[in-house]
Formats: sequence, C-alpha cells, structure tokens
Amino acid sequence: MHNCLVVCYSRSGHTARIGKEFADLCGADLEFIDDVSSRSGPLGYLRSVYESLFHKEPRINTSGKDPGDYAVVVLGTPVWAGNMAAPMRSYLARHRMRFHRIALFCTMGGRGGDRTLEEMADLCGKAPMARIAITDAEIRRGSYRSKLQSLQSRALELEMS
Ligand SMILES: Cc1cc2nc3c(=O)[nH]c(=O)nc-3n(C[C@H](O)[C@H](O)[C@H](O)COP(=O)(O)O)c2cc1C
Repeated sequence: MHNCLVVCYSRSGHTARIGKEFADLCGADLEFIDDVSSRSGPLGYLRSVYESLFHKEPRINTSGKDPGDYAVVVLGTPVWAGNMAAPMRSYLARHRMRFHRIALFCTMGGRGGDRTLEEMADLCGKAPMARIAITDAEIRRGSYRSKLQSLQSRALELEMS
C-alpha cells in the first residue's frame, strides 16, 4: 500500500496549487478531479452555485487512481456557496467506501470552510486526521504554508504510531 494520495478539484487553480504543494512536500501521489462540462464564464459560475446548493453530483473524470491503495487520502475542494464543490461530492459518492484514513482541506474567499469540511467528513463517514481551511488572502500572502506543514506533521505522527 502507498502512503498518501492527494485528491483535489479546482476551478480556478487555488486548490490545485495547494494540493500539488502538499503532494510535493510529502512525496504523495496526486489525482485531479476534472469537469466533463466546462464551468467557465458567468453561466459556469451560476451552474456551480446551483449544483453545490442543491447537492448535485455532476459527471467527472479522473485518471483512475484507486484511493483504496493508499493509507491516507487527502481531499481538497474550494468552498462553493457554503458547501463543497459539486465535483468533489461526485468523487466522494463514488469512492468514499474505499478510504482508509482521510485528511481534508478547503480553499475559500473567507466563509463556509468549517461547514464544508464537516459535510465532507460526514459524507465519508470518518473522522479526519486533520482538517485545514485556507483563505484566498492567505494564498496571496503565502501564509498558508504553516498550515500545510502542520498537516504534514500530523500525517508523519500517524505513520509512526
Ligand atoms: C461558484 C463559486 C461559489 C463560491 N462560494 C464561496 C463561498 O460560499 N464562500 C467563500 O468563502 N468563497 C466562495 N467562493 C470562492 C472560492 O471558494 C475561492 O476563491 C477558492 O479559493 C477557489 O478555489 P479554486 O481556485 O481551486 O477553484 C466561491 C467560488 C465559486 C466559483
């Protein structure tokens, strides 16, 4: 079994950047969730709000890595309308029975992180070993890195226990 898989969805790049940085830090594998239909422009934005508010599960693509092959799966999503992004909901619906341990992170303008992470944990039916919420301002300033390091320390601690 491999140690860690980072799985993230990102519409505009923030969550992907954090996910990639964390994967590099830990030597983890990385899986991106891709949209089947484009979410660009105002219509894409509105559809995203609608799908998140009404807990839709849109069609997604991944490269097909099996999260069941990993001791820890780190799941990252942007906050959309106070919820997880709809494509992450699709991923969790499809794979949640395969997870061993999970850690969660979200990116956001500033509101809805706690609720989003709570909802992801509920859907997975597991208590996450760590959870972090990162604001867009922290991404701009680069001050999120201490949060990533605490997530990495927690993962190492568990590996040794
Ligand atoms: C459809 C949509 C809804 C959003 N809703 C929220 C929200 O409820 N609360 C919030 O703090 N930020 C919200 N945001 C901002 C994003 O969560 C934030 O910019 C995030 O970093 C984007 O991540 P990404 O670049 O990986 O897509 C929303 C963005 C989009 C596109």
